[in-house]
Amino acid sequence: MPKIFITRQLPESAIAKLRDSFEVDMWPYEDQPIPKGELLNRVESADAILSMLTETIDEEVFLKGKQLKVVANMAVGFDNIDVEAAKKHNVIVTNTPEVLNETTADLTFALLLATARRIPEAVDFVKENKWSTWSPFLMAGSDVHHKTLGIVGMGNIGQAVAKRATGFNMNILYHNRSRKREAEQELGVQYAEFDDLIKQSDFVVCMTPLTDETKNMFNDDVFKKMKDAAIFINSSRGGVVVEEDLYQALINGDIKAAGLDVFKDEPISSDHPLLELSQVVALPHIGSASVDTRMKMIELAVDNISRVLNGEEPVTPVY
Ligand code: GLV
Ligand code: GLV
Repeated sequence: MPKIFITRQLPESAIAKLRDSFEVDMWPYEDQPIPKGELLNRVESADAILSMLTETIDEEVFLKGKQLKVVANMAVGFDNIDVEAAKKHNVIVTNTPEVLNETTADLTFALLLATARRIPEAVDFVKENKWSTWSPFLMAGSDVHHKTLGIVGMGNIGQAVAKRATGFNMNILYHNRSRKREAEQELGVQYAEFDDLIKQSDFVVCMTPLTDETKNMFNDDVFKKMKDAAIFINSSRGGVVVEEDLYQALINGDIKAAGLDVFKDEPISSDHPLLELSQVVALPHIGSASVDTRMKMIELAVDNISRVLNGEEPVTPVY
C-alpha cells in the first residue's frame, strides 16, 4: 500500500479519504513543526508528503525519499520547496491556489484597516484602562476611503483585494509582470510602473510570491521613495522585505506605518525590533486562516495526493 507522510497533525475527518486507500503516517503535533532530521527519517518510506510551509523540502529530502512521487504543500506559496530539485527527482509538487483567495484578501484588507485606524493600539488602550476622556485626536489615524492603493503582485488574491478596495472608493494602482486587462476593465484598476506605484500610493500592499526576483524588493531605496504618510501592508512572504530597512524607514518617518502578517523568519519573538513600534501591526501568518478555508486547503492537498498516487493528473500542480 502506498504510504503518505503528513508533516503536521490534521483533523481525522479531513484525511479519512486517504486512510481508505493508503497507509498514512502523521507527525502527531498540531502546534510543533517536525524537526528536519525526523522528516528525513519519515520520508524514506513515503510515496507522498503532505507538507506545511514550515517545512523546507530540499534536495536532501528528495535524496532520502527515493519513492517520493508527490509533495502536496498546504499553501498557495511554495517557496519552502526546491522546485528544481523536485523536477530533477521526478517528484510532482502541488499547492493550494484559488480556495484561499477570498479569505486571504479579507485578512489583507482587515490588516490594512487595522493599521490605518490603529485598531490594535486602540484596543490595548481601552483594556489597559488608559481611556480617561474622549479627545479630538485620540487614536486618530489615516483615512482609507478615497485614498490611493497600490497592489504589487496582481494575481487572484491581489485582484480580490482590489475588489474590496472598490467598495471603499479607493483609487487603485497595480504592478505585475504581466498586464491584467480584464481586471483593469472589471475593477477599474490602473497599471503602473513599480516606481510610479511606490511614489503615488497611500497604501502599498505586497501580494507577490517570494522568488529570486522578488526577494528583498522592499528595501531602503523603495521605502524612501514612498510618501511619508504611506502605509505598507505585507501578507505574502516576509522574504520580500528587508526588515532592517523597514524598521529604519518607520523610525525615520520615511513611511508612516506597517501591517505585517508575514516575516523573514517565522515565528518572530517578542523582542523583534519591529514589535517595539506602535505603528506596526503584526499578525502570526494567518492570511488564509478561516476554519472553512483551511479545511478546503487540506481537502485540495489530499485530492492532489490521491490523484497522483492513482496515476492521474493532480488538480493543482505548480509546474
Ligand atoms: C500561506 O501563506 C500560503 O501560501 O498559503
Ligand atoms: C511582481 O510585481 C510580480 O510580477 O508579480
